[in-house]
Amino acid sequence: MRIAMIGTGYVGLVSGACFADFGHQVTCVDKDAAKIAALCRGEIPIFEPGLDALVATNVKASRLDFTTDLAGPVAEAEAVFIAVGTPSRRGDGHADLSYVYAAAREIAASIRDFTVVVTKSTVPVGTGDEVERLIGETNPSADVVVASNPEFLREGAAIRDFKFPDRIVIGTSDERGRKVLGDIYRPLSLNQAPLMFTERRTAELIKYAANAFLATKITFINEIADLSEKVGADIQEVARGIGLDNRIGTKFLHAGPGYGGSCFPKDTRALVKIAEDHDAQLRIVESVVTVNDNRKRAMARKVAHALGDNLRNKTIAVLGLAFKPDTDDMREAPSIPLITGLRDMGAKVRAFDPASMKEARRELPDIDYCDDAYSCAEGADALVIVTEWVQFRALDLPRLKRIMKQPIVVDLRNVYRPAELEELGFAYTGIGRSQA
Ligand code: UDX
Repeated sequence: MRIAMIGTGYVGLVSGACFADFGHQVTCVDKDAAKIAALCRGEIPIFEPGLDALVATNVKASRLDFTTDLAGPVAEAEAVFIAVGTPSRRGDGHADLSYVYAAAREIAASIRDFTVVVTKSTVPVGTGDEVERLIGETNPSADVVVASNPEFLREGAAIRDFKFPDRIVIGTSDERGRKVLGDIYRPLSLNQAPLMFTERRTAELIKYAANAFLATKITFINEIADLSEKVGADIQEVARGIGLDNRIGTKFLHAGPGYGGSCFPKDTRALVKIAEDHDAQLRIVESVVTVNDNRKRAMARKVAHALGDNLRNKTIAVLGLAFKPDTDDMREAPSIPLITGLRDMGAKVRAFDPASMKEARRELPDIDYCDDAYSCAEGADALVIVTEWVQFRALDLPRLKRIMKQPIVVDLRNVYRPAELEELGFAYTGIGRSQA
């Protein structure tokens, strides 16, 4: 199969490289000439474990290439995937579809033979209809089927998620479209991945409903964690105790500082707007958005509390800045409102993250960046674990105790066992664990 992938952001690049690895012929297209030039030199613009090797192998095998020219690859392709960004529109939280529509118009002008145009970007319900209309308006003779094929990739585990998906959702009722997309994904049937065919609008909604449900699950356990602290229960055990019920499941029940990233915050807000536009109210998702925003802001107060509610002239060491481990992504990261709040309360902040410090400098230019966890902790009044990178899971605790000014640890990811730290003489605060 010949595939054109429009957009070399996270989704486009991972999907393009994985499709090529299945044996398809993939051309990734982007308007950003510097990005394409870098990709042609073998430089990967995002941090994703395994992606550089996957791209290199497939470029070498001549199954994957990169270009700024959209017309050529689209004319040749049997399927064109739209994987451009859909950021939150400034001001109202709606998904900004201008890039999707611009891509649709450009694709329309270049289509030659029968082509399946697939939206992979997360788009509001009904966007496929508009893409179809725009293509028909721009090129009335184009023989196209517009389908929806949402992605469910997690940053840091995107290649695995692509190759071993729980399911693949293909939204089109057109038989020719189903055939092309079925053929593209056939290599995955070896991994027994269920291929689910739906109407286009249903596929579009599945994506938002999945992300909103996961965000709800996290927010639910975060609120139960707050209650655990008040009533003297342990959230880790509560989560396990409910998660072992198969109807609930253990995943996405890890209490923390609130969800961040490029998807959950944006998609929950957009889903609320979609519902409003259709005169339906999603009160649960509305609450999830508000509770999560408030939670992220509350984390600075939690740290202040561990220091006797006075942060004036205190030095706080922050471990982990990215919104989760194995990524350099700072979008909507809980570390941002946390650090801003700490500084507002008069604290001096130092931070270390294994991957995201370059990104972080843009958001948080006025803090000190350190080379490792120990130089970060040296002389600090408290250590705050914000992102659960593996390297923060087995820190040399006696060494930390020696070098810190005060042995105070605030563990926003429950990486450590309270008893272990308390035995070593630390004052420990976790999430959803009663304070002795
Ligand atoms: C998510 C979805 O998982 C993926 O299917 C979708 O396509 C894109 O959005 P991603 O944003 O990469 O992926 O990360 P994910 O691992 O889902 O984590 C999102 C946020 O939730 C992170 O801030 C993470 O720390 C938080 N989280 C996750 C928790 O706080 N607790 C959990 O139990 C799980």
